Amino acid sequence: MTTARITVDREFTIGSVPRRLFGSFVEHMGRCVYTGIYEPGHETADEKGFRRDVLELTKELGATVVRYPGGNFVSGYDWEDGVGPVDQRPRRLDGAWHTVETNAFGLHEFVDWSRLAGVEVMEAVNLGTRGVEAARELVEYANHPGGTALSDRRIANGAADPFDIKLWCLGNELDGPWQIGHKTATEYGRLATEAAKAMKFVDPTIELVAVGSSGRGMPTFGAWEHEVLTHAYDEVDYVSMHAYYQEHDGDATSFLATAVDMDAFIDEVVSTIDGVKAAGKHDKQVHISFDEWNVWYQTGLDTDDQPHNVSKGWVEHPRLIEDQYNVTDAVVVGTFLNSLLRHGDRVKIANQAQLVNVIAPIRSEQGGPAWRQTIFWPFARMAALAQGEILRTVVASDKIDTPKYGDADLVDVSSTWDEESGRLVFFLANRGLEEAADVELVLRGFAGGRVVRAELLAVPEGGDRFTANTEHAQDAVGLVPLAGVTVDDGRARLTLPALSWVVVELEVTAA
Ligand code: AHR
Repeated sequence: MTTARITVDREFTIGSVPRRLFGSFVEHMGRCVYTGIYEPGHETADEKGFRRDVLELTKELGATVVRYPGGNFVSGYDWEDGVGPVDQRPRRLDGAWHTVETNAFGLHEFVDWSRLAGVEVMEAVNLGTRGVEAARELVEYANHPGGTALSDRRIANGAADPFDIKLWCLGNELDGPWQIGHKTATEYGRLATEAAKAMKFVDPTIELVAVGSSGRGMPTFGAWEHEVLTHAYDEVDYVSMHAYYQEHDGDATSFLATAVDMDAFIDEVVSTIDGVKAAGKHDKQVHISFDEWNVWYQTGLDTDDQPHNVSKGWVEHPRLIEDQYNVTDAVVVGTFLNSLLRHGDRVKIANQAQLVNVIAPIRSEQGGPAWRQTIFWPFARMAALAQGEILRTVVASDKIDTPKYGDADLVDVSSTWDEESGRLVFFLANRGLEEAADVELVLRGFAGGRVVRAELLAVPEGGDRFTANTEHAQDAVGLVPLAGVTVDDGRARLTLPALSWVVVELEVTAA
């Protein structure tokens, strides 16, 4: 048995929980839009073609904000193709994913779907093949009340009220050579600055995300953020981060500790932002939008038909990167969520990529069912229960020795305290593959204590760490009650089974 002691103090808070941390992402890629959220003719489809089964799962997931329409897709996308009468919209080749885009689904459909799903829209503009003018025009089309050619076109297209989109991404992954319209940091920094100015001239209330690095391993990481922010600091509100992780060569121990890398990545971007802020004598604070993150088996699950994650022929909505997630992936995703929450003073937006089918917590089949993947559960519980203030967690844990990251805590944690509801919540992961962990939670500044909820995601009976949910075993892995959680004398005690994710919700009062 391994052990961990975790101490929280009611007075030691990191800041309020940014509710936009629980974001998701819908890209015109694979089957995320078509046969994902949108499938006219499906038995659950509403009159607009939105799948009600996927909509219900999206609500249950608790996503707060959804980024759209890409991703790599946006860097070759003309937003005008996706508005106006559907039968007059052009069919186009999408170079990013080698797909035929019908444009049956576009901005109006996404805004309508978002309202039904109860999520905020986070819209990306194309700074790959297009530039300042198209970005400015899209803001005018979407947000200007009326009386101009563009806003009147929106009204003629059926939306009398402005969409009032507050959050905008200034392109996508333009540091990446794979990106359509790839740029140097200086080229992008200048373009993002000018696009931002023009967009804010139209609507000064919008918030803008500058493109950061596509990953910590990019050769330009660090220098890219520095250069881009040196140009754009005054004009933007966030810089983006993207990270995808996977298990390599059966090294589950390192994979389970990957949040160590995520923590370090965030800390490095924070330092870069602060360096530019100091050098430029800026008063305002730029924050982080971690607007793509997840587990993604970038080699493992590609089939021979899709060697580079793109479709081979020019077809509509092919199956692309439909990763099937197992118990190990769910525990890792739980630790990513912990990392994001622990950095909630600097990371204000985060989007798990993507929502449906494409490396997603929700899966659906054309003409068939929709179901929850294993990674659905940590996200759904944290999105629902992380309220109020983020507490600093002081962890004294046994360690795992990982080939990639050296020693890492066996038990990973984040915690929130909501004075209004009196709920103190812990999100915990046991990264140990073999041993259970005895955990003591030391609750300073809190009195009383009643367990409201204790739930566990672990290897199910008869399964192993690779057990996943499939169309034919949709609930093979889920949450089950965790017995044996006690609260007494300012301490809670529980045992985390090997390889598990646990949420504990306590009702307490301030001492
Ligand atoms: O989410 C899948 C792809 O990953 C996105 O289109 C791109 O931005 C990233 O490389």
